[in-house]
Amino acid sequence: MLVYLNGSILERECAHIAVDDRGFLFGDGGYEVVRAARGRLVAVERHARRFVRTLDGLAIAHPPALAGTGLADISRELLERNGLADRDALIYAQVTRGAAPRTHHYPPPDTPPTVYVSVSPFQPPDAVRARGARVITCPDLRWARCDLKTVNLLPNAMAKQRAVEMGADEAVLLREGVVMEGSASNVFAVLDGVVRTHPLGTRILGGITRELVLEAAASLDLPVAEVPVLADELPRCSELFLTSTTNDVMPIVLVDGRAVGCGRPGEIARRLYDAVR
Ligand code: PDD
Repeated sequence: MLVYLNGSILERECAHIAVDDRGFLFGDGGYEVVRAARGRLVAVERHARRFVRTLDGLAIAHPPALAGTGLADISRELLERNGLADRDALIYAQVTRGAAPRTHHYPPPDTPPTVYVSVSPFQPPDAVRARGARVITCPDLRWARCDLKTVNLLPNAMAKQRAVEMGADEAVLLREGVVMEGSASNVFAVLDGVVRTHPLGTRILGGITRELVLEAAASLDLPVAEVPVLADELPRCSELFLTSTTNDVMPIVLVDGRAVGCGRPGEIARRLYDAVR
């Protein structure tokens, strides 16, 4: 596979970063994951905007290569040159503060950021969608700027690992009794006929799919409230679902071993999935 690294397109095996890259030493960087559906980039402008927002939040200089349509251009070139132009694929893009001798404080502002983009074939999780996802709940151990999409993902990885060990598909993160989001997804509930999800703020990532689902819900005239769902309310939800670039809309049928609603993928999740698709 060919990848993009700092201005060059080269074989993945030939792509190397310095051992003192701050992404490696400090997790000092941001990333995006974009979907390509048979070669068409999905909501790439929204992803590019969120990338800028993350880099601004981290005070990382904007790499000129990603300015304007840069992310879309590099993604298309990689899809094309890797034979994925007509396939379902994922684009992974990461920017770090660059390589510099290790100090906690930032290196001089002229340190070039490291820019990496790769693509891979993607199989949408249709089989899981058909049976419905199983999730566990666990404490949200993350920091207070979850709105920035940084590569500091250890608490997310720990939560997801716990889910996998429990035979579940995703971990739903709880903070002081409130459902925040999944380890790599946003969470929606249907309660008393209202579609609910945690409001934007610094405690969750503003998911692009979350945004598309809220727009779809409005166009379907579904009642929506960006109001937190309490862990205590989970047993009363008629539906629960996850949203993300990799899941689209994914119904949840089991939370900590307890059935959601009638224990089958819900109707509202299906309608929103169809609308978003
Ligand atoms: N994760 N919340 C978190 C913590 C996430 O990591 C993600 C996505 C989302 C959903 O965002 P979006 O709809 O923009 O994909 C919410 C990506 C897919 C990942 O880390 O691989």
